[in-house]
Amino acid sequence: MALLVSLTDTDIQPWVEVFESELSNMDIRIYPDVGDASEIEYVAAWQHPFGEYKKYSNLKAILSLGAGVDHITKDPELPSDVPIVRMADDSLTNDMCLYALHWVLHFHSDYYRYVKQQVKKQWLPQDFVAPRNRTIGIMGLGNIGKQIAESLARQGFYVVGWGANEKPATGGIEYFYGKEQINAFLNKSEILINVLPLTEATTNLVMERELRQLPKGAFVINMGRGSIINENDLLSLLNNSHISAAVLDVFDVEPLPVDDPLWSHPNVTITPHIAGQSDGKTAAMFMVENIRRIENGEPPFPLYDVTRGY
Ligand code: OXD
Repeated sequence: MALLVSLTDTDIQPWVEVFESELSNMDIRIYPDVGDASEIEYVAAWQHPFGEYKKYSNLKAILSLGAGVDHITKDPELPSDVPIVRMADDSLTNDMCLYALHWVLHFHSDYYRYVKQQVKKQWLPQDFVAPRNRTIGIMGLGNIGKQIAESLARQGFYVVGWGANEKPATGGIEYFYGKEQINAFLNKSEILINVLPLTEATTNLVMERELRQLPKGAFVINMGRGSIINENDLLSLLNNSHISAAVLDVFDVEPLPVDDPLWSHPNVTITPHIAGQSDGKTAAMFMVENIRRIENGEPPFPLYDVTRGY
């Protein structure tokens, strides 16, 4: 019985230490040293190469390092019967909240202007705007979006949320849902944060027409998936100043190709898909607990649902 660790762009040491001490009856293998592929029962995965999963004939589950699992489900040869378990460790959720908070303040408190003013040696205080007079729109009010919404609301911001389906209102957050209400939601969103997962329904959900619904001068923070907010349309609305600035952590193609115009746009900040980083120790423990559940015949959590697409 073996667990294969295949975590691209990650320091795997803390993960491997937890797996070795907690799963003493399991052989811990590090990709590409797969050994006998038929012995692989679990894969701890972040961007495991496509075409590999189908070689593990006794695979019981794939455990994603990320909250999003499109890095697994896009594999055209993925076996259809293997459960995929998403990551929902608190350290990841917390890190995403901090990322959102950081960039909301960057825009809300005019720090993006002060960075430019410093280059020109300009001493020029900007007008104060109270958080209650700033509306933040969050697309995707699952576990991560809800926590971001609640922490911004606690700081006094007016928060609106949008999701595909109706859900009960939480913590003073005004909630919109479905395609019919997306314009009303966007009309209010002075700072738009996207944390939606990538599914068929969310691909290119926000195109030029939707971006035009944002108030003039709005800001965009994309920390969900690149293909949800159309990159060319975003660029053209940045160029005509309908959108003041954007922070992008996720892209259609990652790493973002060096010749992509987003790199050099003066009002775009790029981060390399780091908005949600996990503490290796607690996130590995989250996977261990799910492996134990499966071994005890219990359902792992949270399980990817093919009909919802996340
Ligand atoms: C992701 C993550 O899925 O960072 O992108 O969790």
